This record gives sequence, structure tokens and C-alpha cells, in this order.
Amino acid sequence: MENKIKWGVIGSGGIARRRTIPEGIMNADHAVLSAVYDINAEVNTAVAKEFNARAVNSIQELISSDIDAVYIASPVNKHFEHVLACAKGKKHILCEKPLGMTTAETEKMISACKAEGVMLGTSFMMRFVEQHKAALQLIQDGRLGKPVYGRAQLSCWYPPIEGAWRQDPASGGGGSLMDMGSHCIDLLEMFFGKIRSVSCFINNSVHPYRSEDSAVVSLLFENGAMGTVDTYFCIPDNSSKNILELYGSGGSILAKGTIGQGPAGEMTAYLEGDSSGYNAQQSRNEGDGISINPPPVNTYRAEIEEFSCAIIEKREPKNNVDLGLESQKILAACYESARTGKTIKIN
Ligand SMILES: NC(=O)c1ccc[n+]([C@@H]2O[C@H](COP(=O)([O-])OP(=O)(O)OC[C@H]3O[C@@H](n4cnc5c(N)ncnc54)[C@H](O)[C@@H]3O)[C@@H](O)[C@H]2O)c1
Repeated sequence: MENKIKWGVIGSGGIARRRTIPEGIMNADHAVLSAVYDINAEVNTAVAKEFNARAVNSIQELISSDIDAVYIASPVNKHFEHVLACAKGKKHILCEKPLGMTTAETEKMISACKAEGVMLGTSFMMRFVEQHKAALQLIQDGRLGKPVYGRAQLSCWYPPIEGAWRQDPASGGGGSLMDMGSHCIDLLEMFFGKIRSVSCFINNSVHPYRSEDSAVVSLLFENGAMGTVDTYFCIPDNSSKNILELYGSGGSILAKGTIGQGPAGEMTAYLEGDSSGYNAQQSRNEGDGISINPPPVNTYRAEIEEFSCAIIEKREPKNNVDLGLESQKILAACYESARTGKTIKIN
């Protein structure tokens, strides 16, 4: 294997075309786009032309080619089938979140990849936001004190669209919680550690489709901290600022817009007894907060680079499969809580 991973893509026409191919695969130092597949042949041909790749007509053709790894960005209910096919073809796989429709599906995907000796990773690219990494460092350094409470919010306006897979749990697995709340839960676990139990409400507040357009989750972490996630498909884009709030016995870290697809967020830390600078990337601002503004990175590039380097170096990637399995278990517990009205312990 050379020092560039040859990537194939399944489901080339959505987020792959919008972000992961142009910003990730095309820009990463250790990646090159080789072949693309989408069930929509017209779109696939256009993507191939746009990015100078080969359009293939089937998954079999894709995995028979000389690619090393596959980025799977098909609808959620296709991930299982696509991961199994790629594993059988001995290709490493970076799969979009959520990995599967259920925990059982995800466990089978993991077993299949293990059996074939290929790596499976989860595309939780918001972990690569530099401000999130800086906040994690502050927490790990004890600057927040004992973690007390975290809130993560991700919402958008998503009106009914005929045939939209996210709007039917049979194809999306769920609505706003599964689609966007999964990022929020994953981030709070990155900051505060494992979740012990959840309590969740879901609802269709505005849109009449089958998936929920509204969800609020209460979380209890193993370290005793608490959290909430709020995620809606029925709040206008400009009204939701995708807030992240992290509180501890030593202060808080408050952010706006760091959760999301772009690098446009702001983050400020208010830390007790902080009279000296945190590092060169900080600047004092009003109210004694410390602005956390490290140079931004492109998260799509970062996730592809990390996974490519992990393959080359034969090591576990940071965007590993455990994140996806953990997420799936928590999501399942959230939906069970919403259904039963009970608080659910995570096994
Ligand atoms: N991390 C992020 O920033 C982010 C953003 C959006 C979506 N996603 C994830 O990416 C995945 C895809 O979401 P999307 O928004 O791109 O969806 P989308 O519907 O916009 O695009 C999916 C693409 O897959 C194709 N497709 C459908 N069925 C297929 C099949 N059987 N075989 C091959 N291709 C098929 C469609 O034609 C389409 O081009 C989901 O898992 C979603 O959660 C992640």
C-alpha cells in the first residue's frame, strides 16, 4: 500500500458530493479519490466528472477495483448491506453516522469487518473541530473543575419532502434525534465520558411526517455530571445557534455554532482563578472570558486524513467503530425511554 489511500465512495450524490469528497478526500494529504457509486447513475456520472474519478455501476464493480477504502454515505437503512459488501471485498470502511439502524445491525457490521480483517470507522466529524479539541484539553487539564452539566443543541428547518428517507424511521432509523442528536450525544460523551442513563421525549411538534421532528434528551454521565441534548427539524435555521454549554465546578465553556458543518463557531471559557493566559491562541475579552479560537481545520478533511493515516500506519483510528456502537446503544435507549416514559440505563 502506498502512502495515499485510494478511496471509493458509496452514495456519492449527497453529503459526499457536497462536503466529504471536495473538502475531505480531494484535500487530504494521504487520500486520493478513485471510484464512485450511487444508485442514481446520472448523479454518479456527474460526481465522477466533477472530481475526475471513475463512475462504477455497482457495488461489486466498486469493490472489485483497486481501492483500499470506502466512504459510505448512503441512507442509513443501506449502511448494513453496504458495509457487509465492502467487508467481504476486504476494503476498509469509513461509514457515516449512525452506523446502522439498530445496535444489533451495528454489532453484525463490526463482526463482519473483524472477520475480514478490515477497519470500520464512524464518521463523527464534529470531534475534529479544533475548538472542541481545545475544550476537551481544558477539561482534561482540570480547568473546568468537576464536570457538572453539558448541553448540546443542533436544529434546522426540514419541511416535508416526498420520499425523503430521514422522514421515515423505516429508512432513517429515526428523525432529528437519530440524524443530528447523535452528533450532540457523541460530543457530550467526548467531553464528559460515558453516559450511564437517559430519559427522552420525542414529538412531532410541527411536521406531520413519521420520524420525530423534535427531541429532548436528559443524560446522566458515569462521573455524575448531567446533560441535555435538544434537536429539532422544525426550527428555522437562523433561529438555532447550535449552542454548546459545558459547566463544571471551576467554570464554564460556552460556544455558539461550533456544532455543525462549518468552521464559523465562537467559543469562550469562563474559568475560576484564571489570571494567566491559557496559551497563545487565547485572547482576553470582556467579562474575563477567554476566547478559544485556535486556527480552524476542515473537519471533513480531518476525518479522511485520520482514517487514511490509521490504515497506512496500521493503527486504530480516532474515528473508530466504538464511537458508532456506543452512539447506537444510547440512541436505542433514548427511543425506548421516549416510548415507555422510563429512564433507561445504558448496558
Ligand atoms: N456528518 C455530516 O456532516 C453529515 C451530513 C449529512 C449527512 N450525513 C450522513 O450521511 C449519510 C447520507 O446522508 P445524505 O444527507 O448525504 O443523504 P442524501 O439522500 O442527500 O444522499 C444519499 C445518496 O445516496 C444515494 N443512494 C440511495 N440509495 C442508495 C443505494 N442503495 N446505493 C447507493 N447509493 C444510494 C442517493 O442517490 C444519494 O445520492 C447519512 O448516514 C447521514 O446521516 C452526515
